[in-house]
Amino acid sequence: MAITVQPITATFGAEIGDVVLGKPLAAADLADIRAAFTKYAVLVFPEQQFDDDSQLDFARNFGPLETTVFKARKEHKLRLHENMADVGNLDAENRILAADNRQRLYNLGNRLWHTDSSFKRLPAYCSMLHARSIPPLGGQTEFADMRAAYDALPEATKRRIDGLVAEHSIMHSRAKLGFGDFDENEREAFRPVPQVMVRRLQDSGRMSLYIASHIGAIRGMEDAEAKALVEELTAHATQRQFVYSHRWRANDLVIWDDRCTMHRGMEFDDQRYARDMRRATVSDVAPTCEQMGLAVAAE
Ligand code: OGA
Ligand code: MN
Repeated sequence: MAITVQPITATFGAEIGDVVLGKPLAAADLADIRAAFTKYAVLVFPEQQFDDDSQLDFARNFGPLETTVFKARKEHKLRLHENMADVGNLDAENRILAADNRQRLYNLGNRLWHTDSSFKRLPAYCSMLHARSIPPLGGQTEFADMRAAYDALPEATKRRIDGLVAEHSIMHSRAKLGFGDFDENEREAFRPVPQVMVRRLQDSGRMSLYIASHIGAIRGMEDAEAKALVEELTAHATQRQFVYSHRWRANDLVIWDDRCTMHRGMEFDDQRYARDMRRATVSDVAPTCEQMGLAVAAE
């Protein structure tokens, strides 16, 4: 039986049914999922049972997996497999993280509009977030369609940003929250990397904005001007007409295209309720400047 595809809007977001992802997939189902991913950019799969191994196995259908950023911190005790990003609020003993816990403060960066791993030279292609347990209130995840946002830009703005290269670092997004607790190893691992601000997607052929709160500078532009531009583009791209807000149910798997969406987590009472969310992330095929045929000087 073929999968079902229920669009959330005509071009952004779809709910996929009649498929079980926690075991090996039929090639035809995988092809249909890929086609839906190309068109809708955010896919919601309700009622998927996964353990960490089966979630990682499913993700490997889409390409090589990323390693969690927490590995760059030697004393950090990983709760999960190193290919799994731990975006919940629990520690290695499954206790709720205290208000002053470093991992909690670090993960508050997920409340800012971003796309995953744009701070890596080879950024993310897609992310696959599974809800193991959710709070009864709040904690939605919002997604913005950066293809539609690009299409809606004035022509003058499109010309202005064409060919621009931004510098992304996870230390930039954390600095916006006043968080700067990075050791030597992390500072080296998180040195800013160049990314194009506009990209063409190889599968759909559509153009997309590519920005995130990880941006700290734009090459060849004064800092004040760069910050104002990124603020304006973010405000434009996150208007309601470009945004889908996902209200989680336990065992939802949501997949998003990191090349052409931004997302952010919404507030919930994280001192009271557990929210166990685990993300497998697939690497893109090449650095974005390379994909767009731009030669960039080393920083
Ligand atoms: C992520 C992320 C937000 C959330 O998993 O990459 O940013 O709502 N999550 O947990
Ligand atoms: Mn994220």
